[in-house]
Amino acid sequence: EGALSRLQVLAAHFGTAEASENHPGGIKRHPTLAGAEEPSHQQASVNTPYKARTGITSRREYERLYRQSVEDPAGFWAHVAEGYDWKQKWDTEHMRSNLDLDRGRVSIEWFAGGRTNICHNCLDRHVEGGRGGQACFLWEGNEPGQDAVMTYKQTLDAVCQLSNWLKSVGVKKGDRVALYMPLICELPIAMLACARIGAVHSVIFAGFSAEALAQRVQDCQCRVVITASGGIRGKKTIPLKQIVDDGLKLAEKAGFKAEVCLVFEHPAVPRQKCPWQAARDVWWREAMARQASHCPVEWVGAEDPLFLLYTSGSTGKPKGVLHTTGGYMVMAGCTTKYIFDLQPDDVYWCTADCGWITGHTYLTYGPLLNGAQVVLYEGVPNYPSPGRVWQIVEKYKVRQLYTAPTLIRSLEAHDAHFVTDSDRSSLRILGTVGEPINPRAWDWFNKVVGEGRCPIVDTWWQTETGAAMLTPLPGAWPLRPGCATLPFFGVQPVLLDEKGKEVQGAGEGILCLKAAWPGALRTIYGDHKRFESTYFSTFKGYYFTGDGCRRDEEGYYTITGRVDDVINVSGHRVGTAEVESALQSHDTCAEAAVVGFDHPIKGQGIYAYVVLADGTSASPEVKKALVATVRSQIGAFAAPDSIHFAPGGLPKTRSGKIMRRVLRKIATKEEDQLGDTSTLADPGVVPKLLETRGK
Ligand code: WT7
Repeated sequence: EGALSRLQVLAAHFGTAEASENHPGGIKRHPTLAGAEEPSHQQASVNTPYKARTGITSRREYERLYRQSVEDPAGFWAHVAEGYDWKQKWDTEHMRSNLDLDRGRVSIEWFAGGRTNICHNCLDRHVEGGRGGQACFLWEGNEPGQDAVMTYKQTLDAVCQLSNWLKSVGVKKGDRVALYMPLICELPIAMLACARIGAVHSVIFAGFSAEALAQRVQDCQCRVVITASGGIRGKKTIPLKQIVDDGLKLAEKAGFKAEVCLVFEHPAVPRQKCPWQAARDVWWREAMARQASHCPVEWVGAEDPLFLLYTSGSTGKPKGVLHTTGGYMVMAGCTTKYIFDLQPDDVYWCTADCGWITGHTYLTYGPLLNGAQVVLYEGVPNYPSPGRVWQIVEKYKVRQLYTAPTLIRSLEAHDAHFVTDSDRSSLRILGTVGEPINPRAWDWFNKVVGEGRCPIVDTWWQTETGAAMLTPLPGAWPLRPGCATLPFFGVQPVLLDEKGKEVQGAGEGILCLKAAWPGALRTIYGDHKRFESTYFSTFKGYYFTGDGCRRDEEGYYTITGRVDDVINVSGHRVGTAEVESALQSHDTCAEAAVVGFDHPIKGQGIYAYVVLADGTSASPEVKKALVATVRSQIGAFAAPDSIHFAPGGLPKTRSGKIMRRVLRKIATKEEDQLGDTSTLADPGVVPKLLETRGK
């Protein structure tokens, strides 16, 4: 389950006949937004002068280190790891892995035998080094003027108090703790407090619904849930505690009970208005008042779990991606340092939420490992005006800004004065992540935001990879709009062709990774078989990314998009199967099929085909009810943009498989490119779908 066969993937990517089965058809186009732009490989390179303080200032210098990193990975990473504090050094043969199912169980180990603690390396190390008075978090609230600073020492004290409280309620090493919080300092503090005592945090993005929360807390069997009374984003108040109560009630019906719920009082929902379960709930402030601000670190094994993070795949329920301590720490710290040329004291801002992997690696752990001052912004980018992001850059004198293409596109749509009204002279490096960036948005980011003087690091990676895999290093080589350029140290990308053979030199294929890297996921929580089948069975001996990719003569890599049924909406991964099952749970829906389509702001939007149940007739009310069902079962970000009622049914092969390729072409109005439909059980379905489109 969860696995795509090699044939399906290849067929889907290369558009061969078998593509008609369950998966995408045809070679994926780079999302150039309805063909309005030249694709990335036709863009000229851009040379933005930047002298990195890391000392890597040329491709040649990079090549030298890169070669070392792949010829002697264990030695290379051990050298990097020495930059951190370890209670106990790793074994001489610390890197042990098997990615080849034919040789037995897939397993990945780095720094085996070593003992460390990531919270110690993020906080204590800097405080002990005399930098406790430096700002750690620069928090900016939803309303302009609302802000707070926490120094490294203050953060450490707060973390220790929470660690002590967690211990006081019985949380021990290895226990799971779920976090469902707004982007306030207490969210990274809670992550660090878990890490400090060896507890495993599982952050659930606060945009997920009660049902989605229930599913995740049940899967990880957390003892404690940490939340806030509410949150505020733009003009919207979010009743987080109410959602937690609803979620925990659902989980209880399914037989799972969380023991304690710790609630931070957020001004958006004052305590008098906060729903409360006296037997289970505890106010954060009261709980902390009784705790000492000193808590010894639990020195954990390098391969002890650090966190779980749920993500969507092409099939089935969300997967709990498990990351461990040592390798993740070393790679988070190292990639952050080299990709953002990050030095202690730099003011660094990553606009991601801690609910996603970017918020783990590049908002929390990576920047703190490097002793940076981290901007945390609780609100939305366009509130109260589309100039807010640039006002924040000016206010804090942000040096590195890391964000998502969807945010760039949404702000690009407004008049340039919203940007130029603010002083951006502090900016040195810009970064993007999460989805392909179209060249026009790249240009705008480069010219209007960065005034042509800031390199843009377009970083390709995944929840599973833990850290950036393909990325420019600022100033070291020329950039190209929409292109992630070269592999980070220790990363060995390969492109596999239609025969599953490695493409040499320039070409296109399925992106896979050869050899283990320290930040790799180690398993899917509670389901190692699914881990093996999802990532290591499609191509034996390789980690399968799910992305298509092109490599050019310079060796640059350009991601062309997912080759499986994963849709990337505003950089959020949405599994088609999850949306379909949400739709199908509604009485009015007999059958549903979901595909992605190019969307000018979100990158991809969600297009849902619905076959109505007998006795239900198509109406705007039914559409609304179906969208509401998806919102409540997954979250607002997964709500379909279009619902297309299919009175004649869905296009299926004789063996009953839905021909998604056909559905995709109809959704994108490319019916001239339907391809071979001769294997459809009922070819009459297609004209009926065309007739009903837009109705
Ligand atoms: C998928 C992973 C990694 C943090 C955020 C997303 C797409 C990611 C890029 C990029 C083109 C990208 C891929 C990947 N993706 N970065 N720079 N260019 N595509 O993490 O939710 O695990 O999603 O996002 O399709 O497989 P995620």
